[in-house]
Amino acid sequence: MEFITYEQEGFVGVVTINRPKALNALNSQVLDELEATFDAIDLDTTRAVVLTGAGEKSFVAGADIGEMSTLTKAEGEAFGKKGNDVFRKIETFPIPVIAAINGFALGGGCEISMSCDIRICSENAVFGQPEVGLGITPGFGGTQRLARLVGAGMAKQMIYTARNIKADEAYRIGLVNAVYPLEELLPAAKKMAAGIAANAPIAVRNCKKAINDGLQVDMDQAIVIEEKLFGDCFETEDQKAGMGNFLEKDKEKKLKVVPFQNK
Ligand code: CAA
Repeated sequence: MEFITYEQEGFVGVVTINRPKALNALNSQVLDELEATFDAIDLDTTRAVVLTGAGEKSFVAGADIGEMSTLTKAEGEAFGKKGNDVFRKIETFPIPVIAAINGFALGGGCEISMSCDIRICSENAVFGQPEVGLGITPGFGGTQRLARLVGAGMAKQMIYTARNIKADEAYRIGLVNAVYPLEELLPAAKKMAAGIAANAPIAVRNCKKAINDGLQVDMDQAIVIEEKLFGDCFETEDQKAGMGNFLEKDKEKKLKVVPFQNK
């Protein structure tokens, strides 16, 4: 891997997009390496992932403008699909992915953060969809996920004006859950991931699937999705141990969650 680093800390995986000379912009190679990195994560020993960017200035400054500048219509569409496929892999990844947004999150950078389950950012973070200024639309899911996250009105304003917003405004509109001083961001993301990893892994996975799948359908279908995933938790070691510990009033044991493969 040239542009992605992966570290494992206990049950938490940390994926870092590492192309600081181009402010971690996403070219085809970065996208390929990101996909390969997520494919290689061992889901038996990893329960949450943190995604961040290398350096102190940029999370991801977008798709690579140099690479896109000479694309034909067909190549442009294929490049959009390439990014969309990788981001959809992150969005539907079985375990939670937390974006630790450490600076610029523009275009494809804002878009990749929106494919993550949770977004937290540093005080110097800047968000935006500047594509219309470059003569294109957002192409890695921005027209779809931004509207779903912050509402169509705010999404349209950001996308049509191509105006960047700072961390405090991103927090105000609900694009990020929290803002930290830069040096506290990664520790906070890892702490949150470790907290998720301490919970029952089958239940956490089923929660992610229930929320994601339920949002795609109407409420009558959504509650059936929930019922199936709720039922799926029963008879698992997680459920037996989790409820058993509660009934035995054993707060210490409650934290000792069984490995995922013991379903
Ligand atoms: N693609 C390719 N290279 C990029 C890049 C990008 N998206 N963003 C930054 N870089 C490169 C710059 O070309 C520069 O390289 P050189 O040193 O070789 O010249 C290097 O990163 C540092 O950038 P700057 O000198 O511009 O740094 P700055 O601090 O002055 O400005 C910035 C930072 C405001 C983020 C500015 O770099 C910028 O505006 N970048 C482009 C942001 C953007 O428009 N992103 C959206 C891309 S389109 C997209 O993402 C489409 C989609 O939806 C799929």
